[in-house]
Amino acid sequence: MTAPRHFLQFKDFSRTEFEYLFARSASIKQRFKAYQKYWPLEDRTLVMIFEKASTRTRLSFEAGMHQLGGSAIYLNTRDSQLGRGEPVEDAAEVISRMSDAVMIRTYEQEIIERFASHSRVPVINGLTNEYHPCQIMADIFTFIEQRGPIQGKTVAWIGDSNNMCNTWLQAAEVLDFNVHVSTPPGYEVEAERAGLYGTDHFEQFVDPMDAARDADLVTTDVWTSMGFEAENEARMKAFADWQVDADMMRVAKPEAVFMHCLPAHRGEEVAAEVIDGSQSVVWDEAENRLHTQKALLEFLVLGKVKES
Ligand code: CP
Ligand code: NVA
Repeated sequence: MTAPRHFLQFKDFSRTEFEYLFARSASIKQRFKAYQKYWPLEDRTLVMIFEKASTRTRLSFEAGMHQLGGSAIYLNTRDSQLGRGEPVEDAAEVISRMSDAVMIRTYEQEIIERFASHSRVPVINGLTNEYHPCQIMADIFTFIEQRGPIQGKTVAWIGDSNNMCNTWLQAAEVLDFNVHVSTPPGYEVEAERAGLYGTDHFEQFVDPMDAARDADLVTTDVWTSMGFEAENEARMKAFADWQVDADMMRVAKPEAVFMHCLPAHRGEEVAAEVIDGSQSVVWDEAENRLHTQKALLEFLVLGKVKES
């Protein structure tokens, strides 16, 4: 049996593979909008394992599998043996004998790596403490739809050096763009944790206004990610000056877009006038989770398909 391909972090795929996936996403999206039935995954099953909460990720994978002719099964740690100490390796052996792909949202990246190493089928990272590759795939597809190629462009990341930030940084290396990061002191990017090859594609700024200056895309995320709730009070104080507001958007390029993976906290990491304003593309960004993940599922289960 040949080892399956997995999507555990952004750099698991090459630039050529992402170009293919973005083209497939556009085609699958267009068919969906035209109400054309497309069932390449008929009789295939995706198992979705959630150890953390989700709205968009669950919905987009479940609806996406259904629209591709297959089905999706939802498991969580509360009411499966996963929450009662069954080794992740054993779970992987069993779950992957009964399904065609597995999506996992969990805590440490190491958990998903261990699962994948014992899985007979492709494993997809639906968010870990370290990475959120499906979200960045949707974000970049959205940027390309709205503004064209991302190569050479500048993305401003304002806020926490979290799973989203790390994945933007990996994507910059794979797709050759730049990320300007500004975090509060003590929350800076750790290149090793982010899984970077080098420092050529990102720059850290003390002042968030400097990071946003002349950016093509400004983006942020919650100050406290899932799993870090105990730090919430300290983070509220530390991040108070790292809000994307209208003044910050004004120093970016006039045609800059604003993105947020959602859920958002208006008045904390983003001002309501920005997320609800004319430069915000957050609803397209959320919708594109559906289309890009359908392309991902098709690719991981069937390999490259010819455009029909
Ligand atoms: N952006 C995102 O992954 O949303 P959910 O947590 O709702 O899945
Ligand atoms: N950084 C956030 C993203 C939520 C989609 C978290 O991990 O909670």
